Amino acid sequence: MSKTSNLNRVDGRAKVTGAATYSAEYKTNGVAYACLVGSTIAKGKIKKIDAKKAEWAPGVLAVITHVNVDKPAGYQKAKEPANLAQPLQILKDDSVKYYDQPIAIVVADTFERMQYAAKLIKVEYVKEEHSTDLHKVKNNGKMPSGKRSQDYLRGIDNAYKNAEVVFEAEYIQPTEVHNPMELANIIAKWDGNKPTLYTKSQGVEGTRKSVGDVFGMPPEDVSVHSEYLGGAFGMGLHTWPYEIAALIASKKLARPIKLVLHREQMFTNVGFRPITIQKMGLGATKSGKLTGMTHEAVAQTSSYEDFTEATVNMSRFMYDCENVATRYRIASIDTCTPIWMRGPGEATGSFALESAMDELAHKLDMDPIEFRKINHAESDLEQKKPWSSKHLLECYEAGKEMIGWKNRKNVPASVKEGDWFVGYGMGTGTFGSSRNPTSVRAKFLSDGTLVLQCSVNDMGPGTATMMTAIGSESTGILAENIKIEMGSSGLPKGPTQGGSATTSSVGSAVFEACKALVEKTIAMAKETNTFKNAKVEDLAFAEGIISSKKEKSKSISLAALLENQKLQEIEAVTDSKNTEEAKKYSIYSFSVHFVKVLVNPNLGKIRLAHVVSCADIGTVINQKTSAGQMFGGAVGGIGMGMMEALEIDHRFGRAINNNFADYHVPVNADIEKQEVFFVNKKDPYSNPMGTKGLGETALVGMAPAIANAVFNATGKRVRELPITLDKIV
Ligand code: MOS
Repeated sequence: MSKTSNLNRVDGRAKVTGAATYSAEYKTNGVAYACLVGSTIAKGKIKKIDAKKAEWAPGVLAVITHVNVDKPAGYQKAKEPANLAQPLQILKDDSVKYYDQPIAIVVADTFERMQYAAKLIKVEYVKEEHSTDLHKVKNNGKMPSGKRSQDYLRGIDNAYKNAEVVFEAEYIQPTEVHNPMELANIIAKWDGNKPTLYTKSQGVEGTRKSVGDVFGMPPEDVSVHSEYLGGAFGMGLHTWPYEIAALIASKKLARPIKLVLHREQMFTNVGFRPITIQKMGLGATKSGKLTGMTHEAVAQTSSYEDFTEATVNMSRFMYDCENVATRYRIASIDTCTPIWMRGPGEATGSFALESAMDELAHKLDMDPIEFRKINHAESDLEQKKPWSSKHLLECYEAGKEMIGWKNRKNVPASVKEGDWFVGYGMGTGTFGSSRNPTSVRAKFLSDGTLVLQCSVNDMGPGTATMMTAIGSESTGILAENIKIEMGSSGLPKGPTQGGSATTSSVGSAVFEACKALVEKTIAMAKETNTFKNAKVEDLAFAEGIISSKKEKSKSISLAALLENQKLQEIEAVTDSKNTEEAKKYSIYSFSVHFVKVLVNPNLGKIRLAHVVSCADIGTVINQKTSAGQMFGGAVGGIGMGMMEALEIDHRFGRAINNNFADYHVPVNADIEKQEVFFVNKKDPYSNPMGTKGLGETALVGMAPAIANAVFNATGKRVRELPITLDKIV
């Protein structure tokens, strides 16, 4: 274990004491308050907006609608339907594309006056027939254009149908909402023709690009600050109407605008996990060897953007199977565009794949882990590459031990504890581990401080803490003497925080920048009188001091070195990216979630007695923050499995449970015992630290683990999430 493997969150104190500044908290002189007025139909045209009363209300500075808006310059170039890089063209015309779509921006001098005036707006519509039910349009889906969204076939199509043992089923996962604690919020202002945004974004550079596109300017002209985020879970991976609205209003009034969404708008205007209907077909020999697999999915998108995710893709490589076909479609319904939500694609896909694997194991009368081991993939059959590393089998063994798998009976509803039926279930997860181009600047200051700069954000997993740990390990500077500057444009360009790629991308860049900085410092020290006859390889750097390995008495501090060189600081900047060597391998993380449930069939109550999440994520940089992320993500998976569903009243196309009273998410008390296990073995090829991705594997496989445990406890198979009590009584 290294010195930094249990580092506390370096920004933890700032977060819990209120010292951390979130987007809407920036102090800005002359700020005005804006809100969005949403449509009350799901599809149609605005016949008339009567904003007079609102405009005349006290303190109101502007009511902006499609009638009087100055349209951003980039609207002309925009394509429809757009791929995901382009946000909704708010107030472009009189059309309504979903319920609660922003149709007016109200700005006033105080928050209260803004709220009051917004209620005075009267709208008349010409309604058109809307379609918000995916089940009605599931056969009208289209194959998206992306390379990995294409139909996939290995071997023979639908080979499973000719197997000795055949299993087929349909699985449904509803729309789910990210619901971070911190609402979507922004302060927008213009300095001449250049905008500045303090906003809730998972990618400073991505937001610069999409805002630049909307307003017809290069990304370099857009400043974005997103230093702290109170969670996001994927909703910050897109630029949303509220951000464009604040910029439009700020430009028009030539003053800073603050706009914070209501919780209700968080269900309708900032994306969600799309409702997805999946069909699985599996075929195996009587001895449990998979011979064919077909995985099909159709998912919700909006009428104005194509959203895609990797829903069916894990079926291509997860198991050793000769004949595999996958088909993925998206179908437009009249809602806001979905967006990636934690474990995107695979979390949904694993519900179908890992439930079906359990169902087929049952049909074969086999232990579900034994069945998976028989079909363990020794290499990636999709990419036809060796794994960079794979310790999935160790995850199975560790999890079996921790959950008490030996107490499981293969016959459902055969174990009881008092009035409660006991069930054990598991589900396997995986997620890719990409390493994205990242630039980091590392600086030594004369007081021995190491400064690390990158525009990457941290939505919560502990990115600054990870950077500190890697910076400390690679320079010998103590963690408390390391300063992280991140989350703002103008810093060296970092990646978007998403896809479990931050540690591999930013961590590698920190590692390389620190290495270059130490080399530069040693080379500089060699030029001083102290070391004038020394060789570079005889010099070492630790805790702010350069010393000779041969003559212990000879050393020079950073402060002395900088003074000697008449410098304020020494810096090194690296542009870090994936290596050709790494591209020869298929790099995935793997996880297995184990669940013990207690079910009382009379009460219909399901208790999660014990949850164990095991993962192979390569090197664990920080046990504490990694375990924290795994715990939190697994709880998200429990929400997916047992509670979460956005209900739409299709008569109106309107979300019904758009609040925390009606849309339930789990809390700590819902899980009686939760444990995490990491294999913690370095991946030899992924990156210098040997890490793989973590965040998404925390969810992928959790929902099916619960479904499988509930089946084991009761004999009832639930194929539509969430697994609520009405489905098992
Ligand atoms: Mo994650 S869904 O890539 O924020």
